[in-house]
Parts: sequence; C-alpha cells; structure tokens
Amino acid sequence: MSAGRAAAPDVLVLGAGVIGLSIAWRCLGRGRSVAVVDPAPGSGASWTAAGMLAPVTELHYGEQPLLALNLASAARYPSFAAELTAATGRDIGYRRTGTVVAAWDGADLAALRDLAAFAATLDQSMQPLTSRELRGLLPGIAPGLPGGLLAADDHQVDNRLLHAALLAAVVGAGGELVAETVARIEVVDGRATGITTADGTVRSAGVLVLAAGAHSGRIAGLPAAARPRVHPVKGQTLRLRMDPDALPPRILRGSVKGSPVYLVPRAGGELVIGASTEEAGFDCTARAGAVYELLRDAQSLLPAVSEAELVEVSTALRPGSPDNAPLLGPSWVDGLILATGHYRNGILLTPITGDGIADLITDGRVPAALAPFAPHRTAPQEVR
Ligand code: GLY
Repeated sequence: MSAGRAAAPDVLVLGAGVIGLSIAWRCLGRGRSVAVVDPAPGSGASWTAAGMLAPVTELHYGEQPLLALNLASAARYPSFAAELTAATGRDIGYRRTGTVVAAWDGADLAALRDLAAFAATLDQSMQPLTSRELRGLLPGIAPGLPGGLLAADDHQVDNRLLHAALLAAVVGAGGELVAETVARIEVVDGRATGITTADGTVRSAGVLVLAAGAHSGRIAGLPAAARPRVHPVKGQTLRLRMDPDALPPRILRGSVKGSPVYLVPRAGGELVIGASTEEAGFDCTARAGAVYELLRDAQSLLPAVSEAELVEVSTALRPGSPDNAPLLGPSWVDGLILATGHYRNGILLTPITGDGIADLITDGRVPAALAPFAPHRTAPQEVR
C-alpha cells in the first residue's frame, strides 16, 4: 500500500514470529479484527530455534517463577497442536520424545544430581541414569560417559512447521498480514494510537501488541521511559541430515568440558544442534568458532554426527530480559501491551502467551498465570 491511512483493526500486532502470530490467532478466535506487521515473518528466533519444549532441562537456579509458566505452557501443547492442525490441516511436528541429559565426567554427573535434587524440591522429576541405562536410551551415544538424567516430559515441536501453521491459521481466520517495517509507534497524550510503517502509511488500532522479539526495545516513537529492557542474545544453530536410523530417538543434551550443547532429532533424518549464547549486539553473522564448538561438542556426545551432511547454519537473536523471564501485559503507555523478552523459551511459551494476551485484550484483566510477568516488575530502559 502507498503512503496514506489504512483501516484500523481492533488489534495491531508488531511482529509475526510465533509469539505475535499466536496472539493474533487467539484474538481472531475471540472475534477481534487483527493486523500483524512484519517485513519478514518468522525470519528471526522462530526460524533459528531448535523447538525444544524444555521446562525442566532449561530450569536454572533462581528462575523458579518461570518454571510455573513454562510448565503451564507445556501442558497446553497437546491441545494447542491439535487445534492448530485442525484449523490448518498442517502437522507441527509435536513429538513426545523426552530428553536425556548426558554427563561428560564424574564432576558433571555430580552437578546433574544436584540439579535433579533442586528440581525435586520443585516437584519435578529427573530420573538418574547409569552409564548402561544411558546407552539403552541412546544406543549411538559415545562410549564411556558415566550416566545422566532423563527428563521424560521435555518434548519438542518443529518450530518452522509451527510458524508456518500459525501464519496459515491467522490468514485463514481473516487476519491481515502487513509486510512492512514499523518506522515508529505513534503516542498521543500518553496513549499508543497506532504506527507508521516505513512506506509512510499510518495505521491506527484499538490496541497495539509489541511482540518484536529482540527488536522490541528499539522501535522509535516510544518515550525512553516506556521502552522495554529487552536485549539481543545471539544464538547459532546447525541443521544436519543423517541416516534416520543413526538419529538419537530422543533429545540429547550435555555439557562437554563445560560447553553446553543439545541435539534435537526430527522425524525424517534432520538433526538440529544448538546453540551458542553470545553477547554480540544486533550482529547476526555466523561465527566460525561457534559452528566449530557446536560440531565438536555434538560429535563428542554422538559420534555419528561426523558422518552427517551439514545443511544449514542459522543465526538469530534471543530476546533477553533483565530476569530471563518474559514481559507480558500492559506497558508504561496506555494502549500498548508487551509480549516480548521470552529469551530461551519462546517456542515453549507460545501457547500460554497467545491465550493469555488474547484474554487480557478481550477481558481487560491480566490472567493469573501471566501476573508474575508484568512488565512493571522491571524498569524501562531510561530508569536503571
Ligand atoms: N532454548 C534453547 C536456547 O535458547 O538455546
């Protein structure tokens, strides 16, 4: 569309990754008109992610509140996947494979046992595995590893199929996709009224949802005191193709001499290996050292990796937040809701974020599950 003024939907979502699209889809299902603005839908973290749904194996000390949200979203996945498939006819690769964490050496095994004890205090079970049990669950694993843990309920989805299905669901339900860059958010008398896109079109809306991932803190127009403190954390993943018989039957994670790595097997022979964690600003170039380390560590755990075809190196920016938990709910500006800062759990938190933000928009109340993640618990960029 050329410069001008576009029709005003009830809801304007900034960002067409899995988070923005799930919100759009759920708002459409609640009878709202919706437009989603993104110059390249699904080209960021939604594309590069490995699709692990890992509330337990992504559990970190001090992040207990996040565990409850992660578990609640994981519990929604079976019905969410079924509903999305029913709406679009598309499979999203939701597979209940479980996850094994292999210990590299005795010290690592002791650290894993401590982690299991911590998880137990939060009612989460991680089953200890002997070396023999590890090989029984993962026949291709490197010999000599001392044992590990089984997180039987940490599963996976194919994040690229998930994104494609959400896009189809939004379009199928009458949502408008606007393939434009957001130049600025328009704020009038302290209220977000709409946006201007790079082609000069002004788009008003009843409510705006900022779901632009790592870019959420740098869209022009918001006063500095209303900009969410979201920062980019670069992650690289690799896609390999291998003989399906050589694929591990479940997700394999480990920490090789202190260097974390995960291997996610897809139906059909794809193996996703991730991920680097780099503070590199908004730089998205692939770094050879990160690729080397991922392949080295993956091959140390699963020797068959060295025979696989390297198909793709992918880089994206995780949306980091001050406490590694998402910012969900009303912002510092009326008319603007935040759904960002999902950091390492965006794919996992897609169902609960979509439902919760759509509930907020339709009922005007923050759902209980989202309340601990109110943006107001953090300071905006100007106030530190
Ligand atoms: N959730 C895995 C990662 O962020 O690397």
